[in-house]
Amino acid sequence: MTKKLWGGRFSQDSDAQAWALNASIDFDQRLALQDIRGSLAWASALQHAGILTDAETQEIKAGLESIAEEFQEDRFAFEPMDEDIHSAVERRLTELIGPDAGKLHTGRSRNDQVVTDFRLWLMEHIPQLDIALAGLQSALLSRAETDIDVIMAGYTHLQRAQPILLSHWWLSHFWPLQRDRERLAELTSRTAVLPLGSGALAGVPFPIDRHEVATDLGFLSVSSNSIDAVSGRDFVAEFLFCTAMIGIHLSKLAEVIILFTTAEFNYFELTDAFTTGSSLMPQKKNPDAFELTRGKTGVLIGNLVSVMTMLKALPSTYDKDLQEDKVLVFHSFDTLTQTLPVLASAISSIQVNAETMLAAIDDNMLATDLADYLVDKGVPFREAHTVVGQAVRQALDAEITLSELPLETYVQISPAFSNDLYAVFDAGNSVARRASIGGTAPQAVAQQISQAHNALEAMQSNTLLEV
Ligand code: ARG
Repeated sequence: MTKKLWGGRFSQDSDAQAWALNASIDFDQRLALQDIRGSLAWASALQHAGILTDAETQEIKAGLESIAEEFQEDRFAFEPMDEDIHSAVERRLTELIGPDAGKLHTGRSRNDQVVTDFRLWLMEHIPQLDIALAGLQSALLSRAETDIDVIMAGYTHLQRAQPILLSHWWLSHFWPLQRDRERLAELTSRTAVLPLGSGALAGVPFPIDRHEVATDLGFLSVSSNSIDAVSGRDFVAEFLFCTAMIGIHLSKLAEVIILFTTAEFNYFELTDAFTTGSSLMPQKKNPDAFELTRGKTGVLIGNLVSVMTMLKALPSTYDKDLQEDKVLVFHSFDTLTQTLPVLASAISSIQVNAETMLAAIDDNMLATDLADYLVDKGVPFREAHTVVGQAVRQALDAEITLSELPLETYVQISPAFSNDLYAVFDAGNSVARRASIGGTAPQAVAQQISQAHNALEAMQSNTLLEV
């Protein structure tokens, strides 16, 4: 049996099943390149602290570089005794350069090493998630531009409420993603805090320049407390909150798209490329991509709850429970980076049934506009609301629409009505009147579209700076 990193004080072999439970190599091998980068920086730090000679440093670095190549070219050979990525890299380094490899772990513990690797991984991968989010935002923004002339029923309580522009509705799903991206950007600064140089929990007894290590690795600052550095995982919980929130935003969008594709609504049609059939019912075309988006959100929320539950009663500094954090993060990251591009393409390919959407707007949806009309005539809104309510009642009783209710009836209800009231029954006018900032009028939406473009461009240059 190959030697374990920590085998010195042990006289018995590990139980095979306990070993399998303990090992994290199956999932933490994703940290290989970050682990090697961390080790390269640590080798320099040890050299500058006078622990490694120049020759030893060179030898160790050359060995690490060639291990990095093995990973990049997918030819790194794992051994059954590789417990985790840190031990795998150290084992391979020993094979390549011999016992000098053993000097690299001076002053370092896997406790500060793993959290350094993990933070580095997130610093590199948050921008990837950000790009995927921007892709969906662009798809929504293009839809808003294309569908600018489409008027639809806006809903509250899932009941027809007031007419809105479809563009306005698409953009209502753009802005939450903008906030998600801002949250991720803020998280980047809290993630980029260097733990390396904390040792197992108490710090390092050698004159290591931690600021130099931080700069080498692209961290923005250095942790202030070695105990907190090896045990703190709120950056993980924050990341999982961000991903859960993104999931919730996507799920809400997916849910309504599914609804709008039903025969009952018939607002949207999905193309074959983003739907699947039924093995039994030949006529079916199912919105699977959207259903899966909605379904996967359950696990995204679950991963957040899992990590918080895991953290809530950890007694000491590093506890082995913490090993599980990576599984959750990788899973949430993979879920979103797989889902977001599909969603972006599926949304771009939706066919809009503009006529059906417009036909869903009945006179009652313009009842608020009728009350606003009375307000323009000097009637207090509260009274106008009651008056229009009476008109709605009378139209319902007579089984006619509000625009079919004769002028005499209106005037009987309130003398403030006159013949110009019928101009209110035009969804286009209703929409056009709501021209306040953030409103649904075409000119307000046009402004919103240019704001959205600016927001996308500003974030894009941020991301480029960070990478
Ligand atoms: N595989 C471990 C993890 O992912 C590395 C840290 C192990 N530390 C230890 N004291 N056993 O958390």
